[in-house]
Amino acid sequence: MLKLGIIGVGGYGWNNVLGFLNLQAEGRVKIAALADISTSALEDCRARPELSEARCFTDYRDLLDAPGLEAVLINVPIPFHREATLAALGRGLAILLEKPAVPLLSQLDELIEADREGRVMVGFQHVYSSLVTAARESIRRGGLGRLKSVSAWGIWPRPTSYYHRAGWAGQIEWRGLPVLDGPCTNAFAHYINLALHLCGSDGRSQGSPVGGRGEAYRARPDIPSYDTGFLRARLEGDIACSFAFTHAAARERGVTIRLAGSRGELLFSGNGRELRLPDGAVLCGDDGQMGLRRAFVAFARGDRERNLTPLEASRPFLSATHLMLAASGGIHQIPAEHSCNVARESGEDEEGDLACAIPGIERDMARCVEDFLTPGEAGLAWAADAGETMVSEGLEAEMLHGLGTGAGLSVPA
Ligand SMILES: NC(=O)c1ccc[n+]([C@@H]2O[C@H](COP(=O)([O-])OP(=O)(O)OC[C@H]3O[C@@H](n4cnc5c(N)ncnc54)[C@H](O)[C@@H]3O)[C@@H](O)[C@H]2O)c1
Repeated sequence: MLKLGIIGVGGYGWNNVLGFLNLQAEGRVKIAALADISTSALEDCRARPELSEARCFTDYRDLLDAPGLEAVLINVPIPFHREATLAALGRGLAILLEKPAVPLLSQLDELIEADREGRVMVGFQHVYSSLVTAARESIRRGGLGRLKSVSAWGIWPRPTSYYHRAGWAGQIEWRGLPVLDGPCTNAFAHYINLALHLCGSDGRSQGSPVGGRGEAYRARPDIPSYDTGFLRARLEGDIACSFAFTHAAARERGVTIRLAGSRGELLFSGNGRELRLPDGAVLCGDDGQMGLRRAFVAFARGDRERNLTPLEASRPFLSATHLMLAASGGIHQIPAEHSCNVARESGEDEEGDLACAIPGIERDMARCVEDFLTPGEAGLAWAADAGETMVSEGLEAEMLHGLGTGAGLSVPA
């Protein structure tokens, strides 16, 4: 049984606790140690009889020093990923690091340098789903022919409580650390990563952005970061690429990913749980969470081939999101006359827990993505003037410069 420690057991970490408890019930792992700065999150774990023997720590460094651990999950907030991963690498453990690996490309380079033995798997779970295996197989057999374009878009409304759930939510930086929280960089990161993953012909390499135009917008007036992002880019191999994701809408509209080639197309819908293959067959599946966990156990046991998401594979995703933010030249506030406050359609929101929505955003996003345009290029009424940029050594500095001047880093009054 793999002896496992879990760092961060509340929030999404609780999902991982429950998922690995299933593997503990199968006799594959033993959850031996838990760490969280929240004692109530630790107590919730302790209340489970299956975790009564697990040692609990409020400082994760003490967990990392606990004897006998073989692997660790890192579920702490994004700004702490770098520090926690470096500490765990120093202890020689296998690491399942939640997505996104880190906010910055320079931090990714630092982790790759520290991870010489290849111990880190990044928690982009969709890559481990049966549907993505089927998609990779179809591409490998030539179902798409020559890949020409990839596009992805999605709408998940997020109300005030989403931004109030944690100090780092909706922030560009927090406690002096980079966060870059926002739909493309966090909530929808899975789908951008998945779209780029599928552009790699061998299923392991990825589509790498070369350059393009990006626009990042803030409809909510009370967050420093963005809630709506667009990227129109070219990937290596002359592949056209278009992404659009927002939290600023009244109605949920799950994620669509389309890969179009000279012979056919692949279409993911339903937040990645439905796949239409080039031959018209439609498959349904899950989001890969258990597939990821099983692959991690095998990886931690020494089966390196099971790691489809090593640190290096996060580079195209970070290049794409840096490209969007750098080309945007900061975050553009959507004028008040083009946004409104709405309750989510589900009606589950508490009174006053409103989302900020851009009227017509669903139609506008569909048009932009289908035509490979940004809102500025499409001439939308609320669009800002943004430019093009290239992926280069200076991309991260260009992005931070844009975000760090004026409105980017401070909450507007
Ligand atoms: N794979 C997915 O589908 C998915 C979904 C949601 C979130 N996530 C990822 O999970 C991670 C956590 O996100 P969240 O929204 O649950 O965050 P969160 O702010 O709710 O924090 C998660 C837990 O970490 C604990 N924590 C905070 N700082 C800590 C520290 N220094 N040491 C130990 N514990 C600490 C918190 O008390 C909390 O219990 C992020 O990387 C996020 O991107 C992944």
